[in-house]
Amino acid sequence: MKRFLLFMSILGAGCASVPPPPPVDQAMLDLAVERGVEPQALENGRRLYLTRCTNCHGNVRLDQYDPLRWPTIMDRMAPLAGLDLPQRDDLEDYLQLARALKAAQGDSISRSAK
Ligand code: HEC
Repeated sequence: MKRFLLFMSILGAGCASVPPPPPVDQAMLDLAVERGVEPQALENGRRLYLTRCTNCHGNVRLDQYDPLRWPTIMDRMAPLAGLDLPQRDDLEDYLQLARALKAAQGDSISRSAK
């Protein structure tokens, strides 16, 4: 419990600076097509994220985690959030695309700044 409270206070302190999860916009839909992800999975994944994942610790910094780590994180978090397998899949699709998009946009910003 102590560890949990410590964790909550750390995340709480960073709360204001953690951006909300990005919308499923045209850029994300384009990337979805490229990667063979169902557009519906993204909307569903985002909704699940907002309704199931943010109760305990608010928004997490999606860009902070290596995409390869998400499966391990989701092994712990999906049961906490009460997700079944298809829901977990949708959420993971959304998180991966949101992150990829953020990375791509970050890239183009730093490139154009030079
Ligand atoms: C019942 C409360 C609860 C729910 C629901 C929950 N989490 Fe968590 N989450 C925690 C706690 C507690 C920790 C810190 C301990 C740990 O990492 O296991 C944590 C940690 C994390 C971390 C940091 C992991 C790391 O290794 O740094 C991420 C990312 C995360 N959660 C994402 C999610 C996502 C995505 C969902 C929705 C599927 C979710 N959480 C749902 C309680 C919750």
